[in-house]
Amino acid sequence: MKTIQIGGIQETIIERSDYPRARLDQILAKETIAILGYGPQGRGQGLNLRDQNFKVIVGLRKGRSYDKALADGWKEGKDLFTIEEACRRGTILQYLLSDASQIAMWPTVKPFLSAGKTLHFSHGFGIVFRKETNIIPPPDVDVILVAPKGSGLTVRTHFQSGRGINASYAVFQDASGRAKEKAHALGVAIGSGHLFETTFEKEVHSDLTGERCVLMGLIQGAFLAQYEVLRRHGHSPSEAYNETIEEALQSLYPLIGEKGMDWMYANCSTTAQRGALDWAPRFKKALEPVIEECYKSVQAGEEARISIRSNSAPDYREKLEKELAAVSRQEMWEAGRVLRPFRPEHAKP
Ligand SMILES: NC(=O)c1ccc[n+]([C@@H]2O[C@H](COP(=O)([O-])OP(=O)(O)OC[C@H]3O[C@@H](n4cnc5c(N)ncnc54)[C@H](OP(=O)(O)O)[C@@H]3O)[C@@H](O)[C@H]2O)c1
Repeated sequence: MKTIQIGGIQETIIERSDYPRARLDQILAKETIAILGYGPQGRGQGLNLRDQNFKVIVGLRKGRSYDKALADGWKEGKDLFTIEEACRRGTILQYLLSDASQIAMWPTVKPFLSAGKTLHFSHGFGIVFRKETNIIPPPDVDVILVAPKGSGLTVRTHFQSGRGINASYAVFQDASGRAKEKAHALGVAIGSGHLFETTFEKEVHSDLTGERCVLMGLIQGAFLAQYEVLRRHGHSPSEAYNETIEEALQSLYPLIGEKGMDWMYANCSTTAQRGALDWAPRFKKALEPVIEECYKSVQAGEEARISIRSNSAPDYREKLEKELAAVSRQEMWEAGRVLRPFRPEHAKP
């Protein structure tokens, strides 16, 4: 456990070393952890728990996820059950269905939340937008959150390589008086490297803003804008792609991850540094109002309503696949498909 101070704000970081196996066992040994859902998070968290011999079972409907779980070695009747049966057997229910199906399945799950059980989320969505989702847990259960800051696939691969992934944690309801230590223990047990504290509300507001902006939406918009400007001015697809995406992802962004933006700048030419230092404030000025608008839309629940409406539609998957296919057909990503095989790691001597 380390106290850090950034910008005058003090925070406590929970580290793996704070929860050695003996302490995890003290907290979790009597619990049966039921993983409901086997998307990227359910699979990653479930397999990580199983590999460490925690008492973990999976609850799924028959179909795609069920088949994936069978292929991963979960056994019907032993540690793989229907959602209802897993809810009955589980004392900690990790609600890892898609956010839209959490709403649909809530009337099925809720009756199994008897006093003393724990309801665990990896996203604050269902609870924070409860006016829309109707997910209102009974008062005598603990309600906690551990939200890995990355995809479920990374939860798994980082665990396998011994690295762990950062996660936030929060307590919404502490019926037992032990909710916080359960959140810490579960966070470590599912493979987090370190944990920082949040609230359900802060988690959902930052997460929805992040994915709409810098992590996903803004980055696609920025890549496309620059690619199209370069192409309009007569640059070849190879040049536009390399100057927009390949150099960013393969060379410069890893340097930001390693030691910060100043480190990346410091490793570029003085011409590049001058340009970036001059133009960055203009982009901040242009983008800040859009990000602010997005945050307000998240805060007002509008983004949640849009997401619930579209993800609950019976044809949502077909529509989504069409939209993703349209992105994939953009010349910029076609260029990526053609050019990636030329990366040095694929080059023949
Ligand atoms: N993915 C991430 O990067 C990430 C990161 C942090 C937190 N989270 C949070 O973790 C939770 C799980 O997300 P995820 O991405 O792992 O999963 P997801 O892909 O959103 O959800 C998939 C699971 O939900 C099941 N499901 C969907 N509709 C169902 C229904 N009507 N009845 C029963 N099961 C149904 C799917 O089963 P079928 O295969 O049978 O359809 C599948 O097992 C969410 O709260 C999410 O916000 C996700």
